[in-house]
Parts: sequence; structure tokens; C-alpha cells
Amino acid sequence: MNLLERPRRLRRHPSLRGFLKETTLEASQFIYPMFVLEGENTAQDISAMPGIKRYSLDLALEHANEAHALGVPAVALFPALANDLKDARGSESWNDEGLFARVIRAFKQELPDLMLVTDVALDPYSSDGHDGLVAESGEILNDETVDILVQMALTQARAGADIIAPSDMMDGRIGAIRGGLDRAGFENVAVMAYSTKYASSYYGPFRTALDSAPKRGDKKSYQMDYAGGYREVMRESRLDVEQGADFLMVKPALAYLDVIRVVRDHFDLPLVAYNVSGEYAMIKAASSAGYVDERKIVLETLTSIRRAGADGILTYHALEAARWLKEG
Ligand code: PBG
Repeated sequence: MNLLERPRRLRRHPSLRGFLKETTLEASQFIYPMFVLEGENTAQDISAMPGIKRYSLDLALEHANEAHALGVPAVALFPALANDLKDARGSESWNDEGLFARVIRAFKQELPDLMLVTDVALDPYSSDGHDGLVAESGEILNDETVDILVQMALTQARAGADIIAPSDMMDGRIGAIRGGLDRAGFENVAVMAYSTKYASSYYGPFRTALDSAPKRGDKKSYQMDYAGGYREVMRESRLDVEQGADFLMVKPALAYLDVIRVVRDHFDLPLVAYNVSGEYAMIKAASSAGYVDERKIVLETLTSIRRAGADGILTYHALEAARWLKEG
């Protein structure tokens, strides 16, 4: 055949393919989410998240150290609180001697070079299982919630958090938290805004991990509708940029790769994507059934999130993927 173009010429050799590769995947691009609980020498399995556990502080530190040694620069911490510490106002969330503050202090002391991303939202502390305060009517109260979120962020900053990550989707919380941090002298603590966060069934396993599913209703009055369009994505991202966010986020990742691309193309802030618990669970289930090759599927999946435009990825695969990347 007399073909003018033969793209296969450039795929002939591994060196050529390596030379032309446009998307990199490295441990330095991962943030490893971890669940911590009270106690010692305790590791609890989480149904639907094989390989991920709730760790007591001592084991969490060991585990995080292992990830850091493999080149993972940051962990995202979530507290798994005993149910008797949860109440309607989430008051344990601004306790400077509570589990989360103690964990943050210990991490900063033991692993000072590991960046700490800490979650701001009411759900791990709330007896209602919502990210905000719930009124008698069932309505999620915005401004009253934001006041609590600021207190929560300040507690985390005092304990040593590097990056405050509000995952609650209340209006105006990025500006309020930025202002609160600045007034308290924490102008160097960064804010990673969960700017585009959908109401998603992919969060199921995470809610089992924290026993934090909503007691009634759903999260659709604050998290975004997945059938919404790009204008809402632009609006939410713009608002968080204007309010002082240091990072934008798209969450979940895999059903929203197009959204990652849109945010990447329109904003110049660093962008992270959250490869969430349900996405992790599906790969784990298919690979343990022998339907897919886990290692190859994970690396292909994480690369697709990078190709879509994410600078960094929050992923439960971080530790294993870092190990595989090191092995080559
Ligand atoms: C809640 C929060 C959720 C996740 C992170 N923070 C769940 C939710 O919004 O209900 C989900 C993460 C995952 O599924 O891995 N503030």
C-alpha cells in the first residue's frame, strides 16, 4: 500500500514509545487517604475496601512512613470517630484534644516532611451523617455550618495541618476558612477546595469506613448533580478561586474525566482528582475475581486521570502503585 501516513512507525519500539510519551505517572503525584481511629495496635478492615484499614495512630504512622519512603508526598487524613462522640453540631471537630488534633500533631512530629491534608466537613463528627448542620425541617443550614467549618479548620491548623481540605460543599466556606486562617496567623496553611464534588454513589465504601452515611435524606442539596453541565463546574471552580483556594479538585474521578479536562483548560490553579472509594472497590473486586490484571489496570486508570489533566491524584491505590512504579 502506498500510504502517506503510517502512525504505527512511531509505535514500533519501546524506546520510541517512551520518547513520545506525553503523560507521566509518579509516586510524587499521589496523595494517600487514610482513616485513623482511637487506640493502639489496631487495624480494622473496611468492607468493600480490601487492603485499606482504619488504623490506630501507631500503625497509621508506620503505614504513612512506608508510603512516604516510596515517594508519596502527602496523606489525606480522615478520623473514624466512635459513635458516642458524634452529635448534631459535630462538636468533637473543634476539640484541640480530640482524636484528630492529636493524630495531626503526632504525624507532624514523627513525619515532619510528609504533607498533611486534613478533611473539613461535619460528617465524620455528625450524628446526622451530613456534611452540615441539619435543621428540624431536614434542611442543611449553610451559614451556621460555615462558622463551624472555620473552627474546625483552625483546630487542624493549630495541630499542624499543611493543607486544609474542605469537602463539605457549603457556599462561601473557602473564603471564610481562608479569612479565619489568615486572621489567626496561618497564612501559610494552604486550602485544597473540593470545588467540583458530585452527589455520587461512588462514595459508598467510604461511608462504611467512617460509619458516616446520612441518617435521613441525601446530599443532593449541597453536592452537585452529575447530570448538570459544565457551566456549574465553571461557576463552582471560579468561586473557589476568587475566595482564595490554592488547589481545585474534581471528585469522583473516573466518571468525570471530561470535567477534569474542562477545569484544567480554564483555570491555572493546581488541580487534583479524587479517585474515590467506589472506584477503588470496583477494581479490587474485578481483580480478586481474576477478571482483570490489577497492577496493569491500576496503572492504566491512574494514568488516564493524569492524561485528563489532573496534577495530583488522591487514591487508595497510592501505596501499591508507588511500589509498582518503583519496581518498573
Ligand atoms: C464527606 C466526604 C466523602 C468523601 C470524602 N469526604 C463522602 C461524602 O461526601 O459523602 C468520599 C471519599 C471516597 O469515597 O473515597 N465529607
